[in-house]
Amino acid sequence: MNTDASVPQPLNGKYRAFPQIHLPHRQWPSRAITTAPIWCSVDLRDCNQALATPMNVARKLEFFYALVACGFKQIEIGFPSASETEFGFVRRLIEEKLVPNDVWIQVLVPAREELIEETIESLVGAKRVIIHLYNSTSPAQRRVVFGKSEKEIIELARQGALWIKERLPRLEGTEVMLQYSPESFSATELSFSKDVSDAVIEVWRPTPERKMILNLPCTVEVATPNTYADQIEWMCANISQRDSLIISLHTHNDRGTGVAATELGLLAGADRVEGTLFGNGERTGNLDIITVALNLQTQGIKPGLNFSRLAWLQAVYEECTGMIVPPRHPYSGELVFTAFSGSHQDAIKKGLAERECNSKKSGQESHWDVPYLLIDPSDIGRTYNEVIRVNGQSGKGGLAYLLEREFGIGLPRVLQADFGRVANSKIDALGREVNASELREMLLDEYECEIPWRLESFSMEGNEGGGIGLATVSLSFQGDTVSLEGKGNGPVDAFVSALNSSAAIPHFNVSFYEEASLGTGTASVQKSSAIAYIQIAFTRDREKKSWWGVAVDTSIEHAALRAILSALNRACGIN
Ligand code: KIV
Ligand code: ZN
Repeated sequence: MNTDASVPQPLNGKYRAFPQIHLPHRQWPSRAITTAPIWCSVDLRDCNQALATPMNVARKLEFFYALVACGFKQIEIGFPSASETEFGFVRRLIEEKLVPNDVWIQVLVPAREELIEETIESLVGAKRVIIHLYNSTSPAQRRVVFGKSEKEIIELARQGALWIKERLPRLEGTEVMLQYSPESFSATELSFSKDVSDAVIEVWRPTPERKMILNLPCTVEVATPNTYADQIEWMCANISQRDSLIISLHTHNDRGTGVAATELGLLAGADRVEGTLFGNGERTGNLDIITVALNLQTQGIKPGLNFSRLAWLQAVYEECTGMIVPPRHPYSGELVFTAFSGSHQDAIKKGLAERECNSKKSGQESHWDVPYLLIDPSDIGRTYNEVIRVNGQSGKGGLAYLLEREFGIGLPRVLQADFGRVANSKIDALGREVNASELREMLLDEYECEIPWRLESFSMEGNEGGGIGLATVSLSFQGDTVSLEGKGNGPVDAFVSALNSSAAIPHFNVSFYEEASLGTGTASVQKSSAIAYIQIAFTRDREKKSWWGVAVDTSIEHAALRAILSALNRACGIN
């Protein structure tokens, strides 16, 4: 294979297209990810060094415990030679035996002897450590930062590896794994990446039983993710002693494709992934490990990390770093499980209902296939409650869902359409999202009217055996009391005939009637126990227009009668 696999591209004004990798027999596009990689969190180092106020020891400790709780077995805890805080944190973990036995702590160090000396010093007494050596390798870094030739850079890496190797006897009793990163690998010529990495491999002499980690960072995303995948596949094929290496990915997010680059890098043969929670890190951030892990979970692959309490993790992260997770961040953002659009809400509602029904029928959890929801929110500690929110774009389904869920108000389908129009124009005028309590208020404001007719009392006799009875009704009308009587085979029937006996009320029929007890919603704070939905139509109305009335009452009978009056009052239009 051609070791200098890059094919130069023509100059294009100020910027230049990144050279394509010559890899005609590339394998990664037709592969699938079938297992989770080894994960390493670099939150306490790469994320921390990018903070305006780096974490103090107490915050680093809190973050460390959170990482352990998520199941990370490799954690880069810092850069011990960089500051007293960094050194002190490493010592605290080791001396107070705060690291679980199955967790490797990783520390970063550049190829400088005095810094390597200090780093080794910081690790004495640890149980398991990964010593991570790095030096930058890209043409720009060689030229601008180091002013060194390729040969001199290789020598720098070789010498750094040697300084570490010479000092390993000082870590007797400690299990040590070695890691090398040709920093800026993504912008480095592949043949040079291989040469510099081979030089380190030659010094450290890993074996299949005692592997070293070769971390190939996409320090800056200078090309599309497929290019990074090509670079990884090329390295896997050309590096010496591949079977003694753990190939590791470390991507940043300059082009917004850090997750894609990592996933394609895994297809290309990598074994391990470095990243941070919520993708914090230098500039546009590091790879968000949570996203890659949960992406695997949605494909039925156990990620080996536990993000079932994502809100808690986010709270720890935000407190320790002072950063915030944007509302549309994959999986963790506030709006990720929210649908405002009516058609989306409807599809989600139906999908959730179908799933519940299937699970009940089969007695086991059914396959997740709910429209618009990539993952079951409850798998990451979120609830369905936040799925449906309402603004001026929402349809009747969302309104109905919220009222039912929060207050147990199950609007009849025919009323949903009517209320949908009313609520949407009110919400549109407000120009913002509304909550379930506001919707309930809108519903009752619109459909529960006590002016001009208000029920004062109602009694019925003579229908005990289910026959025709006589109702005595007392109403107030603009300050006066009006008494009426009417016969019927039940309270509603008799009440309607009493009202129809009044010359002041146009003759009407009840065209829809439904009542329900309340109190099953999550916010069932109302004292009332029943709700009635009534639709009336005037018999002499040529347009056949109908009117809705709704009433909430402690008595189910009074709720129905007051709903009839509400419909009548709305029709009178004096409310
Ligand atoms: O982004 C990077 O290249 C790094 C290295 C030190 C691994 O953080
Ligand atoms: Zn980095």
